[in-house]
Amino acid sequence: MRTYLVTGGAGFIGSNYIHYMFRKYDNEIRIINVDKLTYAGNLANLADVENRDNYTFVKADVCDSSAIRKIFAENDIDRVVHFAAESHVDRSIKDPEVFVRTNVLGTLVMLNAAKEAWEKEDGTFKENKKFLHVSTDEVYGSLDYDGSYFYETTPYDPHSPYSASKASSDFLVKSYMDTYGFPANITNCSNNYGPYQFPEKLIPLIINNALHGKKLPVYGDGKNVRDWLYVEDHAKGIDMVQEKGRLFETYNIGGHNEKQNIEIIYTIIDTLQEMLSDDDPRKALVSRDLITYVADRKGHDKRYAIAPDKIKEEVGWYPETCFAEGIKKTIKWYFENEDWMNNVTSGDYQKYYEDMYKNR
Ligand code: NAD
Ligand code: TYD
Repeated sequence: MRTYLVTGGAGFIGSNYIHYMFRKYDNEIRIINVDKLTYAGNLANLADVENRDNYTFVKADVCDSSAIRKIFAENDIDRVVHFAAESHVDRSIKDPEVFVRTNVLGTLVMLNAAKEAWEKEDGTFKENKKFLHVSTDEVYGSLDYDGSYFYETTPYDPHSPYSASKASSDFLVKSYMDTYGFPANITNCSNNYGPYQFPEKLIPLIINNALHGKKLPVYGDGKNVRDWLYVEDHAKGIDMVQEKGRLFETYNIGGHNEKQNIEIIYTIIDTLQEMLSDDDPRKALVSRDLITYVADRKGHDKRYAIAPDKIKEEVGWYPETCFAEGIKKTIKWYFENEDWMNNVTSGDYQKYYEDMYKNR
C-alpha cells in the first residue's frame, strides 16, 4: 500500500486533496497528514475521514526537523505532497517573517528529511519515491491586461513577500533536483476556490459578508484579474502530475478562467440572490449596494493567467469545472456549512478583520 505524507492537509487545498484522494483510491493508499494547525488549519475540514484506519493526523511544524524526520523514520513514505505554507498575501505584507520561516525553512526541512530517508548509499534514490511541491503562479509576477500568459518558462518575478517566499521554496526544490537528482515535481497553480476556504480570501469573504449584509471591500478599481480554478480540479491535477508527469518537471495548473475581481463579486451577489429562497431573511441583505471600493493592496499584482498547455499535453489534465458550476457548488457548500463559517469567523478572525480593513 502506498503511503502519502501530506503537509498542511488541514488547510483549504490540502483537505480537499485528502478528500479527493480517499474518494479516488479509498483503501488502496494510506495518508499521514502533518499540520501545525495555525489559524488556517482546521481539523473540522477532515471530520469525515478522521476515523479511517488508513488516515493519521500528526500535529507538527514543518520547520521542526526532528518531528518530521521521526515521521520518515517510522513510516515508509512513498509520496510527499507539500502544501503547508502561510498563504495569504495581505498577511505577508503586514508580517513577512513567518512566511519566510514556514515557506522557505519548512520546505528545506521537508526536502532534507525526504532526501535522508530516500537516498541510497551510492547517492541515487530508492525506486518510485516522489515529492510534489505545491506552489503558485504568483511567483511569475504580474501580467498586463494584454492576453499574455504565464508559461513554465516564464522567468520568476515575485512581488509580494508571500510570492517571494514561495519562489524561494521553488528554487530550493529545483536545487535539490539539480544537485542531488532528488525525485520531485513542482506545480504552480492559479487562484483556487471551493469548499473549506478560509474567509480571508476574496471568494469566501465576499460570500460571508454579503450574507450578513456587511460591506464588500474591493481593493483599488476592482479590475485586477485572477484565473480561478475549482479546488477539486487542482487536487486532481496534483495527483495526475505525480503519477503521469515527468519527474523533475514543473507543471502550471490553471483554470482558463480569467475574471476581474468586480465580476467575481457581481457573480456572487447574483448567484446568492438566485439560490436564496424568498422567505430567507438573508435575501434582503444581499445587494450590490454593499460594494465598497477601498484602498488598494500595496504592490497589487494586476493580472495572473495560466495557459495550462504543458499539463494538458503531457499529463492529460484540463480544468473540468466551469466557473458558473463551481461557484454554485461553492455557495451551496457554504449554505450547508454555516456552522463551519461561524466557527472560523468567531474569536481571532474578528480582530484580524478589524486590523486588516480599518484603514481601508
Ligand atoms: P491554507 O492557508 O488554507 O492552509 C495552509 C495549511 O498549512 C494550514 O492547515 C496550516 O495550519 C498549515 N501550516 C501553516 N504553517 C505550517 C507549519 N509551519 N507547519 C505545518 N503546517 C503548517 O492554504 P491553501 O490555500 O490550502 O494553500 C495550500 C498550498 O497551496 C500553499 O503552499 C499555497 O502556497 C499553495 N497555493 C494556494 C493557492 C490558493 O489559491 N489558495 C493557489 C496556488 C497555490
Ligand atoms: P486573494 O483571494 O487574497 O488572492 P490573491 O491575492 O492570492 O490573488 O485576492 C484575490 C483578489 O481579490 C486580489 O486581486 C485582491 C482582491 N481582494 C479584494 O479586492 N478585496 C478583499 O477583501 C480581498 C481579500 C481580496
